[in-house]
Amino acid sequence: MEKIIRPSARLSGAITLPGDKSISHRYAILASLAEGTSRIANYSTGADCHSTLGCLRNLGIGIDVDSATVTILGKGLDGWTAPSQDLDAGNSGSAMRMLAGTLAPQPFRSRLIGDESLTRRPMGRVIEPLTLMGASITARDGKFPPLEIDGRPLHSIDYTLPVASAQVKTCVLLAGLFCEGETVVRETIRTRDHTEVALTQFGAYITVNKRVISLEGRPKLLGRDLIVPSDLSSAAFFLVAASIVPGSSLLLRGVGLNPTRSALLDFLLSAGAQIRIVNFEHTAGEPSGDLQVSYSAIQGGVIEGEVAAALIDEIPVLAILGAVSENGLIVRDARELRVKETDRIATVLDNLHRMGIEAEELPDGMRIPGRQKFHAARVDSFGDHRIAMAFAVAALIADGETAIENAEAASVSFPEFYDLLSQSTCTAAP
Ligand code: S3P
Repeated sequence: MEKIIRPSARLSGAITLPGDKSISHRYAILASLAEGTSRIANYSTGADCHSTLGCLRNLGIGIDVDSATVTILGKGLDGWTAPSQDLDAGNSGSAMRMLAGTLAPQPFRSRLIGDESLTRRPMGRVIEPLTLMGASITARDGKFPPLEIDGRPLHSIDYTLPVASAQVKTCVLLAGLFCEGETVVRETIRTRDHTEVALTQFGAYITVNKRVISLEGRPKLLGRDLIVPSDLSSAAFFLVAASIVPGSSLLLRGVGLNPTRSALLDFLLSAGAQIRIVNFEHTAGEPSGDLQVSYSAIQGGVIEGEVAAALIDEIPVLAILGAVSENGLIVRDARELRVKETDRIATVLDNLHRMGIEAEELPDGMRIPGRQKFHAARVDSFGDHRIAMAFAVAALIADGETAIENAEAASVSFPEFYDLLSQSTCTAAP
């Protein structure tokens, strides 16, 4: 699908974004392993989190979806049954990596498949720790999907993450649920901690001491009623849009503000953005609040080191902000961008160039001078949801109509994106 985006005069009003993708995956998987019913409100409407639900159904779990409320009939830690067909993770790296950890200790065989993009993404990072735990997993060329998993009992492990990845951490912890004794995961760079928070909510015994996470195996998990906060990574598109379109003032309701995710707000504030947090609250261990964002002069900045890991999903849209900022944007230490849904260093640079923006590709990032103007162009999502949405934001400040090819990719995480964008924007005078 091609989407035409016109320049916008300003963004205004109040909007509610769909539930957080990372938290939705975790709640669904843990609810399926818990005893009793869980009701998850504001579950992500994105295709990724529905791929996880599809896999869980295929593993014998009863699931009812009523708009954004998902009811899951948990069957306990040993309740999954052998799937009658391949488990399809679609476009979702999170679904595949998290489910791999939960399938490896099952008493049956399973096969995890994904779409063309997922089939190119590295799985060695989960195969390695699971194999150390005793798992049997066969992958294409030893590291790519499909994953053939010959389930068997695993043993606990003390594992230091070689890559800063919350998906790998989650994979090992989920496998650890099925092992006798304590599973320990050590992080050198802190990653999002939704799994640790959610495990506690479902009744697992887990301790976190600095960057060392210890989980007792074989807990009795209990079904719960939970509300997923709105997705801060989806809010990023609107935070940037309202910051760069003159005259904007927009309220985003109930956005997740977990401190392991909120580096985005710290970066935007340090770059000069005007964002106020109102109505701060905690639900099931996850903080959230309303964000009031207004247009302001942006200075730009440098994203590197641990901050690059913490902002990894938001870098595509921050690249747009960087190009119109006073001093530009430098991104380093973000090599992981190359193994996301697309090589996001390459796809961001390609589209920036199409829109007349000067930008230099670095092996682990990019350098974008500031004070540039976006020109209307034909850009391409290359099938990547965050690229589609980042360039829809760029289109708001271009000098004419921008066409986004393969724009439908946005629905992987945010099906309501284009509707909410047109609802909150006013067309600029020609
Ligand atoms: C996620 C972790 C990150 C992030 C992805 C979601 C998660 O991936 O990019 O969108 O939910 O744990 P990595 O773990 O590969 O860094």
